[in-house]
Amino acid sequence: MKERTTRAPWRNAIGPALLLSVGVVAWEQLLHAARHVEPPGPVAPHLALDAVLALPLAYAAVTLTLQLFRRRSAARAVVASALFTLLLVPAVGAHKLAHKLVAPSGAHVHRSAVEQQSLIAHGFHDALLGLPVALLIALFSIGAMPPAPSRKTAATALAFATVFTTLPGHAAGPVITPFVAQLPIPAVLSGSQITLTAREADVPILPGMPATHMWTYNGTFPGPTIHATAGQPMYVTLVNNLPSQDGDVTMHQHGEHAESQYDGQPHANLIAPGGSYTYHFDYTEASAPERGAMQWYHDHMMDVTGRNIWNGLAGMVILDDPTEAPINAALPSGDRDIPLMVVDRSFDQNAQIDYGTFNPDGRLGDAILVNGAPQPNFNVANVKYRLRILNASNARSYDFKLSDAQPMIQVATKSGLLPAPVTRTHIQLGPAERAEVIVDFSHHQVGDRIVLQNALGFGANLNSAMQFTVTSTASDTSTIPQTLRAAPVFDDTLPLGPTRVWDFGQDPVTNEWTINGNGFDPNRIDAMPKLDTVERWIFINTSSVDHIVHIHDVDWEILSRVLLGSTDTSGILTTEPGLRESFRLRPNEVVTIESKFTDHIGTFVFHCHILEHEDYAMMDQFQVVR
Ligand code: C2O
Ligand code: CU
Ligand code: CU
Repeated sequence: MKERTTRAPWRNAIGPALLLSVGVVAWEQLLHAARHVEPPGPVAPHLALDAVLALPLAYAAVTLTLQLFRRRSAARAVVASALFTLLLVPAVGAHKLAHKLVAPSGAHVHRSAVEQQSLIAHGFHDALLGLPVALLIALFSIGAMPPAPSRKTAATALAFATVFTTLPGHAAGPVITPFVAQLPIPAVLSGSQITLTAREADVPILPGMPATHMWTYNGTFPGPTIHATAGQPMYVTLVNNLPSQDGDVTMHQHGEHAESQYDGQPHANLIAPGGSYTYHFDYTEASAPERGAMQWYHDHMMDVTGRNIWNGLAGMVILDDPTEAPINAALPSGDRDIPLMVVDRSFDQNAQIDYGTFNPDGRLGDAILVNGAPQPNFNVANVKYRLRILNASNARSYDFKLSDAQPMIQVATKSGLLPAPVTRTHIQLGPAERAEVIVDFSHHQVGDRIVLQNALGFGANLNSAMQFTVTSTASDTSTIPQTLRAAPVFDDTLPLGPTRVWDFGQDPVTNEWTINGNGFDPNRIDAMPKLDTVERWIFINTSSVDHIVHIHDVDWEILSRVLLGSTDTSGILTTEPGLRESFRLRPNEVVTIESKFTDHIGTFVFHCHILEHEDYAMMDQFQVVR
């Protein structure tokens, strides 16, 4: 102690400041976890960065406090540490702003409900959450803590700790208990002519809470499931009955090979409030019925797709190809063939889902909904089921696995049946991606519960999607055929068009998400492939976050996936062969894909399917010409 008092106060302060910044953020992180808020990526680097970022201000706070309170007594110690923690408000709160400055790419920001708070509110929350630890460390480090604290001191510290840790933290929403709601199955629409009406509706989402005000197709969330048959045309009339301040709408059937004018253009063929538009889908490709697939439909308005889908404008599509009937009949079918739309949303205390301030890094929710119900339960028999899983989230990726450690047998991807089933213990799905899996409950007893877990989720409302409860026994004649459907082969004798390179990056000044350095411009066309030619497109990710590349019009085959500057193709995906219209592009990856432009001329978009990246403005256009 003597040594310390003879040193300059600034020297004494270095150790405590270090301890403080580490201690406070560690505690904060623990509380984030307890409050079911997902940390932005791995915890350790986050802690390290937060500690470093908080250091300068923590240091200033420690120095100042030391100067002010040289003499020690228990009472003074409490006052000193209170002042101390007050000074830490800007110190801890500053980290969010500092993240933005240090990592403008958005690689490291609190991507959660926290984004919806102001900087000052965020700072207060963080500092208050960190208070108990700050108190203890402060008392120890300035030597004010008596070796054996008096009862009064201990009681005061305990009271502080209790008050501050029970203050509402980041996730100020309602408590959602998993597996209480039952899984809803959306209504099905089929036939040659259907009508969807975009309108506001109060949708019961959280059990025992007020209904959630949403923008819907036909009053439900998800919208009705469209059941289409390949080769049989369907006219889908979309009526816009949303209030005029909600703006125009446009609808894209994601995964469908639609004509340009029916493709849900983000800036053309828009439907003004009170208006309607009829989309025509013929469900053919290259003059043959299209392959069966799970697709989906959603709003696609330029700049506000993220808001519109968050508010509820999304539904599923099951496209059946009659030529696949024998396979579909062998697989579990009927009420054992379940479409699952997985999204994340955050709710306020009144169960409302305010989209909030636009966050270009992606709007994340803090609770998972399946078919519009929070982490529902689904009662099953001890048989096989076909689950068609769609990730319709704005920005969140999931890594699904079963709690009974049983594998899932994947039979289809977003572009339809696989050549052969693939056994998977994990299924990772980025926004807009789909996978169809067979799960087998036959080794379970009545009463068993199996959870569909999310290995990427943090906290009780994100680490699982839903639960299956075995409530009955039944016979099962379904099988999983050893061969399913071969992927089409591109005709290599066709002339190969130009190879195009697309760099998915971020503008260092504006933070705008870019393709080849540009944000979306509806008046610019950046490629004009010729009809009936094959082209290779190369995608490079020069930004620091993953993107989900989605290309309208046709499906693509992945030829290679390598790291920038490497020729090693061993990283190529082997678990998802066949075609796709969307794929993950990780930082520094170079993905080469190939497709043939069939049937349709006209303009189509391609973009990142993290909706806030798309809206700001990672989207581009190509025009297929003769
Ligand atoms: Cu699902 Cu262009 O989008
Ligand atoms: Cu942080
Ligand atoms: Cu992106």
